[in-house]
Amino acid sequence: MHLSPEQLAQFDKAGYLFFPSLFSPSEVKTLTDAVPELYSRKEAYNVREKDSESVRTNFAAHLISRPFAKLGKHPRMIQPIEDLLGEQLYMHQFKINGKMAFDGDVWQWHQDYGTWLNDDLMPTARAMNVAIFLDDVNAFNGPLMFIPESHKRGVIAAKHDLTTTSYPLWTVDNDLISQLVARAGGKNGGIISPTGPAGSMILFHSCLVHASTSNLSPWNRVSVYLSLCAVSNHIRRHKRPEYIAHRNFEPIVCLPDDCLLTDYPVDVPWEHGVPASALETSLETIA
Ligand code: SIN
Ligand code: MN
Repeated sequence: MHLSPEQLAQFDKAGYLFFPSLFSPSEVKTLTDAVPELYSRKEAYNVREKDSESVRTNFAAHLISRPFAKLGKHPRMIQPIEDLLGEQLYMHQFKINGKMAFDGDVWQWHQDYGTWLNDDLMPTARAMNVAIFLDDVNAFNGPLMFIPESHKRGVIAAKHDLTTTSYPLWTVDNDLISQLVARAGGKNGGIISPTGPAGSMILFHSCLVHASTSNLSPWNRVSVYLSLCAVSNHIRRHKRPEYIAHRNFEPIVCLPDDCLLTDYPVDVPWEHGVPASALETSLETIA
């Protein structure tokens, strides 16, 4: 799936694109069916909420589970980002965020590139996220919130928040958020939230400032995020474990468009366990 000139222009202006119902219910079902078993595993790659056993983030399912391995090579997710970055991509991070009913905690205001730069020494912002909803997303179950055009500011000063939630994040302070929202239109469009049915897809710039509130509703809000990086822009440090920030910089080769509903062969190298090396970390800079 490729982007039209209008979509490329819209992305450049706003910093995100939204595709409601891009994946069919039967495609989504192949993914949702695999989530409970993945979430039930007592493994480091399942990060739980601070005050409950609910999974906040599951990492690296594309290396563990066949349906997610196929999603990680899906042309509807990969090709638009290749168009935007003009280069082949590798998978920097893969996560299935839970945001479970009654339990899902906030994601503070941040830019993803802030974390990728500060923790992983990713050289430039030539990397971005593409997400699909595995549940319907509405105003009540903690939808993503974006500040349109905030990607134009480049990298914004951030502080390392190690306490608010169970997952450390480089976050942006409230005064700056107020300014960015005011500049983007204040109450008239200064914050937007794409909502829609399961199977909808969002792609957004790695400098777009975003957040989400907690989920007090009775509806789960499970979403999958692929963080894709231009191969030449690979990370230069392994400060975080490999299941969080990947170290295989080989370009992704897409499967055919019907891959979720067809039995294509895919590699699932961590199917029988995560290698010990994936837990090792280092502060050294690599070439
Ligand atoms: C993220 O910013 O990485 C996740 C936000 C969310 O899932 O709400
Ligand atoms: Mn983020």
